[in-house]
Amino acid sequence: MRYSEELVEEVRSRNDIVEVISGYVRLQRKGNSYWGLCPFHNEKSPSFHVIGDRQMYHCFGCGAGGNVFTFLMNYENYTFKEAVKALADRAGVRLPEEEDTEETRQKESRRARLLAVNKEAGKYFYYQLRNPRGQIGYQYLRGRELSDETIQKFGLGYAGKNGAELVDYLRSKGFEDELIKEAGLASFSEKRGLLSQFWNRVMFPIMDVNHRIIGFGGRVMGAGEPKYLNSPETPVFDKRRNLYGLNFARTARKGNIILCEGYMDVIAMHQAGFGQAVASLGTAFTAEQAVILRRYTDSVLLAYDSDGPGVKAALRGIGILREAGLSARVINMEPYKDPDEFIKNLGREAFQERIDKAENSFFFEIRILERDFNMDDPESKTRFHRELARKLCGFEEAVERENYLAAMAEKYQIGFENLRRLVSSEAARTGLAKPIERPRSGTQGKGSSGENSPQEKGKKAQRLLLTWLVDEPGLYGKISRYITPEDFTEELYHRVAERLLEELSRGDCNPAGIISMFEEEEQQREVSSMFNTSLPRLNTAAEREKAFKDILLSVKRNGYEYRISQMGNDMNALKWAIEGKKELEELAKTHISLE
Ligand code: GTP
Ligand code: MN
Repeated sequence: MRYSEELVEEVRSRNDIVEVISGYVRLQRKGNSYWGLCPFHNEKSPSFHVIGDRQMYHCFGCGAGGNVFTFLMNYENYTFKEAVKALADRAGVRLPEEEDTEETRQKESRRARLLAVNKEAGKYFYYQLRNPRGQIGYQYLRGRELSDETIQKFGLGYAGKNGAELVDYLRSKGFEDELIKEAGLASFSEKRGLLSQFWNRVMFPIMDVNHRIIGFGGRVMGAGEPKYLNSPETPVFDKRRNLYGLNFARTARKGNIILCEGYMDVIAMHQAGFGQAVASLGTAFTAEQAVILRRYTDSVLLAYDSDGPGVKAALRGIGILREAGLSARVINMEPYKDPDEFIKNLGREAFQERIDKAENSFFFEIRILERDFNMDDPESKTRFHRELARKLCGFEEAVERENYLAAMAEKYQIGFENLRRLVSSEAARTGLAKPIERPRSGTQGKGSSGENSPQEKGKKAQRLLLTWLVDEPGLYGKISRYITPEDFTEELYHRVAERLLEELSRGDCNPAGIISMFEEEEQQREVSSMFNTSLPRLNTAAEREKAFKDILLSVKRNGYEYRISQMGNDMNALKWAIEGKKELEELAKTHISLE
């Protein structure tokens, strides 16, 4: 069921965006608007902008933006409907009860339906594990020393040997084949039809921070390849932005988060009382995940495998965490391979000791670095010292650099002044503490057609015009004669323009309300960008008039060319083309005063 536009608008207008976002992001007032560090990408100076008058937010760094619903969808991973519900609750607006029928489900957004089919599959696996046929899976998990309580808490399950059964079950619940495939739960073969992707495996549902199943990992019992089979990425399963176990860890309140490599590590740690453990999703730890962890803690402990790849992954992780402004320390797992094995063998107290003794990440890096050098050979040793000095240059803050310098001088028995001189000369040689340039982690520039393609240029002009009109609704009267929704060529732009121009003609202007006409986050973000494009900075009235007219002309010309390309070549089309051209020429000659 869809809520009516009026109801959605009521919920939106009763939740002030500045208040809502302040609950998540520290905002500072500057003039008419508020600024803060963007919660959606990694940054050190604020480019996240919340505009109270307009009830919208926009990040100049990564392009995130929208209204209060978009924010919750983005931050909490909510669907549109969930965001509406949460904000209705917050403001005490009553929503009509909804029935969960097949018909209402068919009308839900794609994301909501993917979550629904995952939930149902999770239930299926869960019951399989508790069924005589699932004994083999249950015994496997018990063999790995998981308690019934733990199996329950993580919703573990079993995928049996009959691959058609899951599909039949999901069909019986009203899910269509397309959706089952899209969720990565089954795939189609000519011979045997639609079959479950997971076969004879214990199943780990992967949940987002709101405990909703977004994907699965399935482990073979015993030897076999691949050891873990993970769901593919889907619109609800973004492996770069979710972490296994974070739904529990976010409320563990231990003052830190422990980052591990595997699902089993997370589960074993939680069972042993370390509820702050999380893992990435069968992929390397990402900058996006670091940004998300920063919401919950400023201190991350790495509990990676003690083998070569584990150390390499830890070094990578340290760099990402540091870049996100998080303090990182490394837990020593020796002589065991991973936290699961460590705890099984030495128990939780011993692990707690390792946590308490976790190594400063810089010390760890240098200790690993040292392995490549021969300290008995003066030449090799000197190269090590130089490398160490170069790493010390990475501390931008003088006091911090001095403190590490002192610690390193003592640890590696180098004269403090000598090491300091070495750092200075390395700094002079390579440029002190220059932060490394990294590509922005935002999601800007995603489109496949280049920024300069005619299509992109057309859209840019349309965005500029829409933003300008929202900025100065009074200008509409000056151009209402020249502009129609038909000048906006793409479907999304057309719908937005149709609505905005209609509002403007009534002397109204409600861009934040227009955003909630769309239920998908991607659409909302794009619509928001139409109202948040940077306008040219102009000083004189003449400059303003020229810029505005250029934009208007550009939109008209783009619309004209688009329509020509869509037309046949009969007499009418030709006539229209000539008239349109004449109109354009006239508009080019017309002076539009903005005063
Ligand atoms: P156990 O042997 O069950 O204890 O596994 P583990 O937790 O020790 O995991 P391991 O260190 O082998 O791997 C860590 C993580 O990498 C797993 O949790 C998976 O997410 C992922 N992984 C492991 N093996 C595979 C594989 O074969 N394919 C893929 N895609 N991911 C894997
Ligand atoms: Mn393991």
